[in-house]
This record gives sequence, structure tokens and C-alpha cells, in this order.
Amino acid sequence: MIENSEIIISGSQIDTRCKELGEQISSDYQGKDLVVLGVLNGAFMFTAQLCKNITIDMSVDFIQVSSYKGETLTSESVTLLREPRILLSGKDILIVEDIVDTGITTAWLKTYFSKRNVRSYNVCTLVNKCERRFIETPVTYSGFLVERGFLIGYGLDYQEKYRNLPDIYCANV
Ligand code: IMP
Ligand code: MG
Repeated sequence: MIENSEIIISGSQIDTRCKELGEQISSDYQGKDLVVLGVLNGAFMFTAQLCKNITIDMSVDFIQVSSYKGETLTSESVTLLREPRILLSGKDILIVEDIVDTGITTAWLKTYFSKRNVRSYNVCTLVNKCERRFIETPVTYSGFLVERGFLIGYGLDYQEKYRNLPDIYCANV
């Protein structure tokens, strides 16, 4: 574990919030053709917990992108690693993100889906971190607002470690 890291959002707080978000989403998507698309790898745990709390018929799939943060922040730093396998045309897409930070990944995804003939498109993020927001991009559902800090746990990594932690920590990296 990274020294001096402290829990800022506990697993049980996340469970409670997933219940609330699940209820809200189930109500907002009544009568729609909901496809939840988790963004790998970070959103794997949140996607699972959120889906358990959605009570309407839905499908789930994943998309994987990698974002390289060089000196300049542009959407050209995003690469698609895995496309969803489910047919998306005419579907109501809900992107599930671990964290929206600069907004670059989320903005890139919005452009990607705007070309795929989907019926509707919304974003649900576990953490909405505003400190380094660079591109304004709409986020419909936010689990937790966090001002600053580097977070690990509950899917969030530092150099591919700590994704397994059941709570979210602010790490001293
Ligand atoms: P964005 O494109 O800057 O909005 O952020 C995209 C990705 O950066 C997220 O999906 C995370 O994988 C990663 N990221 C941003 N902030 C953090 C953090 O505090 N901890 C771990 N990963 C982060
Ligand atoms: Mg990451």
C-alpha cells in the first residue's frame, strides 16, 4: 500500500450511492433500450455494483480506451483498444466511467458515439474530479464530487495496482 494514503470514500458509501443511482437510472430509462457500457479497466467494479441496482431490463458491455497524458492535453491522446460487441444502433447508451478528470476521455467517447447512430447518450461517473477539468463535457450522473488529489481503489489504479481495494483512497504519489 502507498504510505499515508487515507480513505476518502468508503465501500459502504459507494454501495449506498450505487443504490440511489440505480433507482434514478431505472426510473429515467423506463421504456428505453438501455445498454450500460463500462469503460475498462477502471470502471469494472463500479459497473458491476451499479448494474446490480438497476431494476429494468438492460444489457451490459464494455469499451476500452487508453489515454496518454503528454505535455499537451488533446483528444488525440485517446486510443480505442476494444470496441463494444453489442449492436449499438438505436440503443440508449449509458457510459459508466470510474473518474472524469480532464474530461478528455469523456469528450472523445461523446464524439465516438455521435457517429454510431445511438438513440441517446449519457455518462455516469463514480468520481467527478474538477481540479484539472480541461474540456467541458456533460456528465449526467455523478457518484461523488472530489475537488483534488490522486485517487486509488475500487477500480482506480496507480501504475496498474490497487484496483482491487474495496474503498477509495487519496494517495500520496
Ligand atoms: P480524463 O481523460 O483526464 O478525464 O481521465 C481519464 C482517466 O484518467 C480515468 O478514466 C482514469 O483511468 C485516469 N485518472 C484520472 N484521475 C485519476 C486518479 O485520481 N486516480 C486514478 N486514475 C485517474
Ligand atoms: Mg487508469
